[in-house]
Amino acid sequence: MSSVSVGIGPTPVEVPPVVYALASRLWSGATVVPVWRNEYGGLTVRLEAGGACRSSYLKWVPDGAPCPDPLAEADRLVWAASFVPVPRVLDVGRGPHGSWLLTAAVEVRGTPATSAIEPRWRALAARSAMAVGAGLRRFHDGLPTDTCTFVRTAQTRVAALSAVPTGLPSTADRTTTAVAVDAPPPVDRAVVCHGDATVSNTLLDQAGQFAAHVDVGDLGVADRWSDIAVTTRSVTRRYGPGLEPLVLAAYGVAPDHERTTYYRALWDAEEAVRIRTRVTPVGEPTWRAGRRGR
Ligand SMILES: Nc1ncnc2c1ncn2[C@@H]1O[C@H](COP(=O)(O)OP(=O)(O)OP(=O)(O)O)[C@@H](O)[C@H]1O
Ligand SMILES: [Mg+2]
Repeated sequence: MSSVSVGIGPTPVEVPPVVYALASRLWSGATVVPVWRNEYGGLTVRLEAGGACRSSYLKWVPDGAPCPDPLAEADRLVWAASFVPVPRVLDVGRGPHGSWLLTAAVEVRGTPATSAIEPRWRALAARSAMAVGAGLRRFHDGLPTDTCTFVRTAQTRVAALSAVPTGLPSTADRTTTAVAVDAPPPVDRAVVCHGDATVSNTLLDQAGQFAAHVDVGDLGVADRWSDIAVTTRSVTRRYGPGLEPLVLAAYGVAPDHERTTYYRALWDAEEAVRIRTRVTPVGEPTWRAGRRGR
């Protein structure tokens, strides 16, 4: 068993045979290093070829996992790469048990960029929080809404939730949270949003400055607060309390309690559905390709 991060804590995970087989087909002879297992059944490994050849990242998503489709993510990466720093797509495909995305490791001046969730960036939490906020602003400023064909407004998300049994929080839940998920606040500023703008999806360079974003499978035009609300909460969860004002200052926006509360509640409603429908995480002893539910 190798050790791989799920959230903050390293968790033992066994790379399933289907991922080894895929890795050896895509990058023959590469060493497979598990990097990240998501909450819904997906696994990302780094392929290290050695020598002058650089590393790549292989994300594998088993059939039925409630994660964005790697093919949809590849489309978004290819489009966004003209405007903002994101990984270069090397390969993407679908197999009998799942889908995958292979991207080139992001480098800055020849040195690998690393996720802002890594311990060394958590140890410099205030600085890293500002880098995450500045990176999000760069993403929003860099991508043009007029040529973006991807849409992820609150209305489309609410419609998707409504299509799932008990996807929308019940009236009783609404009373508890005081948020009507099916009544979004007016749009502050429509931008191309990342869709999952968390600490772990932000890469920093060796100096701790923003380098790139990964994991853009939910990219689409939406109110900028749908990202900002998620980013600030992720910084609190990953780095600790008290840093949200730094993220907002680095982004360059005043706090907006109403939109922040709304977009967090919308995220939580979607998360509840994802957790209900996730497949057994890969690498668990009971893992079988394509197994649904829990
Ligand atoms: N091209 C790349 N260059 C550098 N690091 C990468 C690259 N692709 C992925 N990573 C690393 O692998 C991790 C997992 O990749 P990714 O975020 O795409 O997976 P995920 O399972 O969709 O994540 P999540 O749990 O956020 O849904 C990233 O957080 C990042 O640390
Ligand atoms: Mg991610």
